[in-house]
Amino acid sequence: MASRADVERLVNSFYDRVRSNAVIGPIFNDIARIDWEHHLPKMYSFWSSILLGEQSYSGNPMVRHIELSRMTAMTETEFSEWLRLFNETIDALFEGPKAEEAKTRAANIARLMLFKIQTI
Ligand code: HEM
Repeated sequence: MASRADVERLVNSFYDRVRSNAVIGPIFNDIARIDWEHHLPKMYSFWSSILLGEQSYSGNPMVRHIELSRMTAMTETEFSEWLRLFNETIDALFEGPKAEEAKTRAANIARLMLFKIQTI
């Protein structure tokens, strides 16, 4: 994974899985009613900033997920499923140090998010 095009492939493929997933799909489709045309470019920037140092994302994911947790269950179950899909997507498309870094960063952010949701 070395370019913005790689990140876009990762994000597109990940959210294809998310959309049709029984555990977390409904959070995106029915609770947040995601506008994908808006959400996907934001996620390209988020992951490009993390993995490629692009500095194109500005936002506050923690706040958004705390809000979501007031509307629906955001527990260990949902976060494990999110991570499982993310890791599955990475492993299907990429290998090497950046691929491993992506999985580690996702796991760390997910752990922090769940912690904040549980303690706030
Ligand atoms: C249970 C797990 C998760 C669920 C169900 C979930 C769901 C969502 C939803 C529904 C949104 C869209 C909110 C909106 O715009 O209305 C969102 C945004 C976002 N999510 Fe997650 N998410 C999860 C975990 C994560 C994790 C682990 C990360 C990071 C590694 C992440 C990163 C983001 C980012 C960056 C945004 C965009 C925030 C913004 O700037 O508006 N999410 N998520």
